[in-house]
Amino acid sequence: MTAERGVWITLEGGDGSGKTTQADLLATWLEEAGRTVVRTREPGGSEVGQLIRDIVLHHRGDIAPRAEALLYAADRAHHVATVVRPSLARGEVVLQDRYLDSSVAYQGAGRVLDGTEIRNLSLWAAEGALPDLTVLLDLAPEVARVRLDSADKPFDRLEAEKNEFHARVREAYLALAAAEPERFLVVDATLSPEDLAQRVRARIVDLLG
Ligand code: TYD
Repeated sequence: MTAERGVWITLEGGDGSGKTTQADLLATWLEEAGRTVVRTREPGGSEVGQLIRDIVLHHRGDIAPRAEALLYAADRAHHVATVVRPSLARGEVVLQDRYLDSSVAYQGAGRVLDGTEIRNLSLWAAEGALPDLTVLLDLAPEVARVRLDSADKPFDRLEAEKNEFHARVREAYLALAAAEPERFLVVDATLSPEDLAQRVRARIVDLLG
């Protein structure tokens, strides 16, 4: 029997765009197809990452923009080295909530840092690792806001940012997707979860080989 090839899929999108629901649907489908699925996320996909996640999402008070970018990059470096690469080497499917595109979109949207520099920092941290597929769940911030308001859980630091910030995050994501169409699948996050899942599956079939 030939060993299965590891496949790395990342999910991106604004807060409230439905990444978790899609990841759940995708994981079930992949497992039914007999694949081993590793569900993970950034920040916080490793033990060290959990500690970093706690700082970047829950620290009270400001974090200097470069320090914040480095914290995400540190989480990424450790996560890729200890979780993502070993799982892919075993032939597993890594299904990951957020990756370096989040850094470019969110840290870049603060306007203080340059998107290319942030991307290069992440690529250095991850030794150049890029996913086979990145699914971008595209959603207008006003729609996301309504969803988050009705979710009835406390906002983290970034969710509490203004709509204007989230509009810049969205633009940054769309620009990233346009620059790398072979890696990205952009889907309209207002579609029903099942419609979305179908689109994602159609694209993944080719990758599974
Ligand atoms: P999380 O609760 O994991 O995601 P979601 O809100 O989508 O369920 O929160 C992660 C937050 O961290 C999210 O607001 C985006 C932000 N983030 C960055 O700013 N930069 C990054 O590099 C990553 C990975 C996340």
